[in-house]
Amino acid sequence: MHFITVKSYDELSRRAANLIAAQVNIKPNCVLGLATGSSPLGTYARLAELCAAGDVDFSAVTSVNLDEYVGLTGDNDQSYRYFMDHNLFSKVNIRPEATYVPSGVSADPVEEGKQYDALIESLGGIDLQLLGIGLDGHIGFNEPDDCFTKETHPVALDESTIDANARFFASRDDVPRQAVTMGMGAIMAARKVLLIANGQNKKEILEKAFFGPITPQVPASILQLHPDVTVIFSEN
Ligand code: F6R
Repeated sequence: MHFITVKSYDELSRRAANLIAAQVNIKPNCVLGLATGSSPLGTYARLAELCAAGDVDFSAVTSVNLDEYVGLTGDNDQSYRYFMDHNLFSKVNIRPEATYVPSGVSADPVEEGKQYDALIESLGGIDLQLLGIGLDGHIGFNEPDDCFTKETHPVALDESTIDANARFFASRDDVPRQAVTMGMGAIMAARKVLLIANGQNKKEILEKAFFGPITPQVPASILQLHPDVTVIFSEN
């Protein structure tokens, strides 16, 4: 594992964007696993700048996102599809039809999960998976549990996750209680993992995840078993 501590969110974002751009430049038709939340916003803004400057070309890239809230359609401005369209996909030259986000409105989320995993497999797996980390140690929406779940699956969000994400909604009551998330199988099969985290409040969970015991109670701790993980952390 490569653990990089940087001085600012701006530096974190530039470093993360440079790594993603390097991945795309080395393999123009790569598969990027992408995340939402506040952590990658600066990274996505920087990638848009690099693309505008001609330093990276997304025209052959395919993306698969980690997760989506159950009950939200892609045109809902709180959905993760909407987030990705507005913060990255519309700002770079990726083909819209090559961007995948799990559906939050499937009648059969378990079957939908199987299809999402089959899609990832048919793409040849993920070359680089970008992750944030929740205060409870979740990656994607793989919440603390008694076991790690391999498949893309529906999940009930933890109270702490609902609290943390309430800032994006009009009220806490509006935060969906369920999500669909990529499981640990596809995440761990990614050839490279890049986890970004910023803020003092992420320090404790990063220590537990990367330097504590490997346990499904701290889902990100499974990454200790991954052969190629880079963590970029900024306290500010
Ligand atoms: C989002 C996701 C989540 C977030 C995590 C951290 O697609 O999968 O695991 O990465 O909740 O969120 P922020 O970055 O808002 O602190």
